Amino acid sequence: MHFIFLILTSLIPLSLQKSTPEDLSYVAAVVEYEFSWDVASNVQNYLTLIRDAAEKDADVVVFPELCLNPGQDHYVPIPINSLLKDDPIPAIRADLYHEILVAISAGARENSIYVVVNIQEIMNCEDAPGEECPEKKTYIFNTNIVFDRQGAVVSRYRKMNLFGEYSRTPALRPDLGEFSTDFGVRFGHFICFDLMFQVPAVQTPQKLNVTDIIYTGMWVSELPYLTAVQIQEAYAHSMNVNFIAAGANNVTEGGAGSGIYSGKAGALISIMPGLPTTRLLVTRVPKVPGQVQSYPGPIYNDPSDHDNLLINGDPSMAAHTSRLLVPGYQSFTLTSGDIICSFNINLTQTDKTLYKYRAGVLSGVRTYDGKASGGIKVCAVFACTGDGIDSCSKRFPKYTAESLATFEELSIAANLTTPKRNEDLQADNIVYYPISLQPSILPLEAKDYSLNINQIGDRTFYNYKLLNGNVELYSFGIFGRMFERDDEAPSPPWTEVEN
Ligand SMILES: *[C@@H]1O[C@H](CO)[C@@H](O)[C@H](O)[C@H]1NC(C)=O
Ligand SMILES: *[C@@H]1O[C@H](CO)[C@@H](O)[C@H](O)[C@H]1NC(C)=O
Ligand SMILES: *[C@@H]1O[C@H](CO)[C@@H](O)[C@H](O)[C@H]1NC(C)=O
Ligand SMILES: *[C@@H]1O[C@H](CO)[C@@H](O)[C@H](O)[C@H]1NC(C)=O
Repeated sequence: MHFIFLILTSLIPLSLQKSTPEDLSYVAAVVEYEFSWDVASNVQNYLTLIRDAAEKDADVVVFPELCLNPGQDHYVPIPINSLLKDDPIPAIRADLYHEILVAISAGARENSIYVVVNIQEIMNCEDAPGEECPEKKTYIFNTNIVFDRQGAVVSRYRKMNLFGEYSRTPALRPDLGEFSTDFGVRFGHFICFDLMFQVPAVQTPQKLNVTDIIYTGMWVSELPYLTAVQIQEAYAHSMNVNFIAAGANNVTEGGAGSGIYSGKAGALISIMPGLPTTRLLVTRVPKVPGQVQSYPGPIYNDPSDHDNLLINGDPSMAAHTSRLLVPGYQSFTLTSGDIICSFNINLTQTDKTLYKYRAGVLSGVRTYDGKASGGIKVCAVFACTGDGIDSCSKRFPKYTAESLATFEELSIAANLTTPKRNEDLQADNIVYYPISLQPSILPLEAKDYSLNINQIGDRTFYNYKLLNGNVELYSFGIFGRMFERDDEAPSPPWTEVEN
């Protein structure tokens, strides 16, 4: 099947302001993109959005996972180890390459901008020079591909941690995604569920020594720790990187959430739409993460919009050691395995408050929908729809104002295992993420909390404190990933009937 693209050719090149290696910042753009099965219109929309990003002086624009060529009729070969070595610019060799590659290459070239797209890649091992081919068959991969300002393909990364995706094969080798730019920034990049794993999420910044990470996602959010913007922002904070994250928007299936984050400064811009949305987000990014000046900040949607957004529940709630909170002041300690957490809480409830709250700790192994399992270490406070712990990963079907409580005081002192560097992987074996969640399904802004970390030998003390007594919260705590326990049997075991 073929389709004709109207490529937006302008005779006069745009007068673009490009960042240089000497500049202290660059301009990044991400697209929250409403999912569609129509490949031709996706290509057309991408070309328009590439141009819009360039007109806003973006140096790089990032599109989300699996939004360009979904379905099974438009798989794209990306021969980076053969044809593309001699002819790296598909836009000027349309005879050699798939029309989608040619079109996006032309978009990058005509607008003189770096473009990152995620593509369903096909590789036929009957004819795949330079490629790893364990079997003489046709492979389908979930792949990020990067074009430079000339439209040349400069990087290909295949997703390592598939979320189900039974038609596709994970990367055949653990190659990290990376590329350098003419504005002096080297980027790492990976895809969606990869964010939950040591390789590549921790290895990419630590082994490659990069401070700028690009992410393509179709993330299905989960309460109370893993909604999209919440975990994207926490990743940027804990890894101290700039995180340039584009999310697929498919609200009925749970897909939403994009942003550009800068280390401990939080979201330079972010969006978590509860309604179907395509939106280009553009902001200037400091080359040193966290050294921010002015920036747009989070885009807050009406919390009622999120009634339409599917949000899953964490399947490991029942394994938490927990305690129901009472209105007013309380101070207590909870333990699970080698985790010891002290809570100081002054909970403010009104007659409008519908949620109850629990504090919980867990050192355990959870399932990700039966598709993978992972070690976790958590100390947190979360909202519950009832008295039982299983209700603490759920929302009421309709949001009502002030149904969540505020906290006059909320501080968590967590005594946790110190992360160790795995020397073979050049990546830490544990990562702790400071997480929080407001009614808008966005985390707290950096000014609304403090986090002090004090490492004493093999124990690390996290002091995580809420500074704003007026914000309503779904959750607040430390969510840790302990990679050495990945693939152990989860507790509770996975059951089909979650949610
Ligand atoms: C990592 O990069 C920083 C600057 O970004 C540099 O100062 C440091 O020496 C690098 N470390 C290694 C091991 O390459
Ligand atoms: C996204 O949403 C559409 C409905 O708008 C649905 O048909 C489709 O299966 C969803 N796609 C994915 C990949 O989840
Ligand atoms: C921290 O936890 C470790 C291991 O559980 C324990 O031995 C130690 O006494 C704790 N330290 C403090 C200050 O609570
Ligand atoms: C808890 O907060 C209330 C205000 O909501 C305040 O009156 C009370 O003194 C606080 N209690 C403690 C022990 O700090």
